[in-house]
This record gives sequence, C-alpha cells and structure tokens, in this order.
Amino acid sequence: MESIKLGKTDLEVTIIGIGTWAWGDKFFWNYGKQYGASQVQEAFNASLEAGITFFDTAEVYGLGESEKFLGNFSKQTTQPIDIATKYAPLPWRISPQAVTDAINASLKRLQLNTVTLYQIHWPFNFIMSQETLLNTLADAVQAGKIKSIGVSNYSATQMEEAYNILGKRDIPLAVNQVQYSLLYRQIETKGIKQKADELGVTILAYSPLAQGLLTGKYTPETKPDGARKFDSRFSGQGLTKIKPVLDLLFNLAAKYQKTPGQIALNWLICQGNVIPIPGAKNAQQAKENGGAAMWRLSSEDLKELETVSRPWL
Ligand SMILES: NC(=O)c1ccc[n+]([C@@H]2O[C@H](COP(=O)([O-])OP(=O)(O)OC[C@H]3O[C@@H](n4cnc5c(N)ncnc54)[C@H](OP(=O)(O)O)[C@@H]3O)[C@@H](O)[C@H]2O)c1
Repeated sequence: MESIKLGKTDLEVTIIGIGTWAWGDKFFWNYGKQYGASQVQEAFNASLEAGITFFDTAEVYGLGESEKFLGNFSKQTTQPIDIATKYAPLPWRISPQAVTDAINASLKRLQLNTVTLYQIHWPFNFIMSQETLLNTLADAVQAGKIKSIGVSNYSATQMEEAYNILGKRDIPLAVNQVQYSLLYRQIETKGIKQKADELGVTILAYSPLAQGLLTGKYTPETKPDGARKFDSRFSGQGLTKIKPVLDLLFNLAAKYQKTPGQIALNWLICQGNVIPIPGAKNAQQAKENGGAAMWRLSSEDLKELETVSRPWL
C-alpha cells in the first residue's frame, strides 16, 4: 500500500484510511440491525489484508464503541496500526483538564499509550479559546500522549489560525478533516484546499463516497438503511440529479476494471495531499475501498470527472 506524510510531521500513514463512525453507531448507521460486531471485526481484518493500517474514529462515535472496537482489534495483531481520533469541544468542557481527561479516556478505550493523530472534531471557541485548547494539545504532544494534532470542519481562516498557534510551539498542524467528494467539492471553492496545500496541512476527506451514493448501488427502488432514508440526495429526484456523475463513474469503472466507488476514491487521491477515509461496514467494502490505491486515473479522465462534478463545486 502507498503511504503519505501527515502534513509536515514525520509521521507516515497509508494513503487510504478506513472511517469507523459506523462501528457501534446506532443513531445514524443503525448498527446492530443489518450488520454487527462480527462484520465490523471482518472489516478490520480485511482492511489489514488490503494493506490499510490507518483508521479514523472519534470519542463520540457509538458513544465510545468505535474506539473500543479499534482497541480490541489492534490487540489481536502484531501489525502497527495508526489511529486518528477526535476531541468533541462540547460546551460544558470549560477547562484544559477536561481536554486532558478526554485524551486519557480515549487512550483507555483504545488500549494505547499514545495515538498517531488527535483532531478537534469541529470548531467551537465560544467557551474555551483556540489558544487554550491547542496549547493543551501541544502539552499532550510533549507528554507523548498524542503524536500529532489535527482539526476538522475548520474553514481556511480557522485552519490558518490553528496553524499559527501551534507554530509558536514548533508543532505543525497535521491535518484538516473535511467533507470532500465528487459530490461535495466546496473545500475547493471555499479556499480550504488551496490554503491547506500552501501551509502543508493534509486534507482527510470524509464521506468520500458521499455516504454510499458514489458506489452507484442506490436506486429509487433500493433505499439505504438508517438516517439516510430521510436524506433528499437518496430520493428519486436526488438520484436523477447525480446520474451524469454515476454514468461517467460506471464508464470509467469498466475501462479501468475497477468499481465506481474505487474511481471516486482515486479521483480524491489524484488531487494530491488528500487521504480519503471511506467508511466500511464489512470485509467486502474494506477490501474494495483498499483497491482504490496503487494506480492512477489518466489526466484526461480526471478532467472529465472534474467537468461532470462542477455543479457540486
Ligand atoms: N469529521 C467529521 O465531522 C466527520 C463527518 C462524517 C464522517 N467522518 C469520518 O469519515 C468516515 C467516512 O465517512 P462516511 O461514513 O460519512 O461516508 P462514506 O465513507 O462516504 O460512506 C460510507 C458508507 O458507504 C457504504 N460503502 C462504503 N464502502 C462501500 C463499498 N465499497 N461498496 C458499497 N458501499 C460502500 C457503506 O454504507 P451502506 O453499505 O449502508 O451503504 C458505508 O457505511 C467516517 O467513518 C468517519 O470516520 C468524519
């Protein structure tokens, strides 16, 4: 598997990560209904077999269940695993001690002494300033509890502010984790991608398959499970709107002997400085998502994908 540096840190991770929000999450993904613990375990094993050793989680996913799964699975292998987790800046977390407690609790669930990447899940500086929060995380880097710091859902300006605060501690901001796919390209129009490239901050692309839409498996007759049932993008009208993108993905999939989802993930890798983190609920999905690396779309095909996805800029 190809690897890539996390920003300007010395850390290298696989060029595709696996998102684990669905591992234990009953609210959005309906964990426990059509998939459960054994499918999730198989997804982890298949990820390793596909060469993927980078996993994204968060303390809020499945109210800690996702981190617990990763902690248990990692103990079953001798292969080094890189885990990225996230701090939720909840309004009642008002002191640096609350941040330290959250890190300790995540490490306990993950059964680790240190984590590769620790991200702030969303920007919220009303109660605790960015300066206080980021300096507390910088202290955790120095204490060896986290190896690098990232942010998530930050605008270009917020990301640059975080970069500058950490710069005073000689710590590079490693990543900004944001929504990015052929059906959600706003990081390009909002200047986040450009600023990240300029600062040397890696983009972690979340929902890179547009929550399953870009695999082409959903039709007006086959609706997804869980909260997506109420998402207009999965309605008949929503699916008609994305048909030109899906048609091109299917054509390219035939040409490259890949799947539409693999084409969509490879398009993200081709943007450079981007690590897609597709979710996987079972072994088949993890294996397929792993097959999106180790090859590249041609520049002509990238141009066609760019053109057809312009309405989502
Ligand atoms: N920082 C944030 O605020 C934030 C927000 C959202 C997500 N994330 C992170 O990003 C990760 C990925 O995002 P996401 O889960 O929202 O969306 P996604 O990766 O675009 O879609 C994941 C879903 O697509 C389907 N799928 C995945 N691979 C497939 C394959 N090969 N073939 C067919 N179907 C496949 C599965 O659902 P079905 O089988 O049910 O269709 C899966 O749960 C999350 O797990 C999480 O780690 C972060």
